[in-house]
Amino acid sequence: EDIEYNNICQKHNLLLQTLPKGNGWRVQHLYNYNGFWLNPNTVKNNLLLHTYFKSLPTDIVLVAFMKSGTTWLKALMFSTLNRDCYTFSNHHLHNHGPQSTFPFLDCESYPITDFTSISVNPRLFATHYAYTLLPACIKSGKIVYVCRDPKDVLISKWHFMSKLRSKDLPPLLLDSAFELFCQGESEYGPFWEHVLSYWSASLEFPEKILFLKYEDMKKQPEVVVRKLAAFMGKPLTADEEKRGVVMDIVKLCSFENLSNLEVNKKGLEKFGRLVEVEKQDFFRKGEIGDWKNYLSEEMKERVDTITNEKFVGSGLRL
Ligand code: A3P
Repeated sequence: EDIEYNNICQKHNLLLQTLPKGNGWRVQHLYNYNGFWLNPNTVKNNLLLHTYFKSLPTDIVLVAFMKSGTTWLKALMFSTLNRDCYTFSNHHLHNHGPQSTFPFLDCESYPITDFTSISVNPRLFATHYAYTLLPACIKSGKIVYVCRDPKDVLISKWHFMSKLRSKDLPPLLLDSAFELFCQGESEYGPFWEHVLSYWSASLEFPEKILFLKYEDMKKQPEVVVRKLAAFMGKPLTADEEKRGVVMDIVKLCSFENLSNLEVNKKGLEKFGRLVEVEKQDFFRKGEIGDWKNYLSEEMKERVDTITNEKFVGSGLRL
């Protein structure tokens, strides 16, 4: 019996009785934990993460608000960092989904998972938690954050969560999802506070946090690969540049390539014991501006106004 683990479970049960409750997109309720909306299990995992996660100073953590480009960035970080371990004609990513390249911290089976068996250096991890919800040990290491136009995030998330939504609940209509998103009520939200938490931290600690935008990645993926390589401590050499390694990575991780691989078309990806996702659902359109096919002019204005009001004076533009 792990007394500490049992204490956390108890604390979690008590917490859920006191936290503000909101509407979930996948499960019935979200809970507002220190300013952010999480499903009950993700609240518990946050407590566990704080207690059990032992970081190394060299760890690098990928963070994104859900549906902002996590899958793509995972593939890019993994293939950029490990570019000497594989050839681009026979790559790990040809036979393994990007999700499986490194662990997602939000649904691990703590305290059983302690990650000490990971022998690669630096170790890579991924999470969706806002900056203020991270344990101090993660904040003191390196972080790569990616953000995306909230209108595209909303549409992407609505599609994705509709697929995962409990069959016991009525379907989540786009109008309701829109309203909830604008109120900040969606898993890991409010979106704007999430982005700002990392933006502010990146201004304060520029050498620790690399702040990326999905739209920049689409427009100039090769620039992002060079940035990632340098940030992760493995800048591209002149010889690699000559050999076209940057374009090899960009092509390997492109939406067209990854979404057409057999390994990403079939089967389930498990997140902890509770969540299973069809692998193909991580790849939908991969475009900028698909929101135009779903949101009215009025809805667009509403999101843009919120974005402008929240970001005013921050120096951040999306
Ligand atoms: P859409 O639903 O707009 O198509 P996440 O990985 O954070 O869950 O984000 C998923 C979004 O990223 C989806 O957006 C998905 O299609 C897109 N995506 C996945 N792989 C991508 C890639 N290699 N390049 C560009 N976009 C990608």
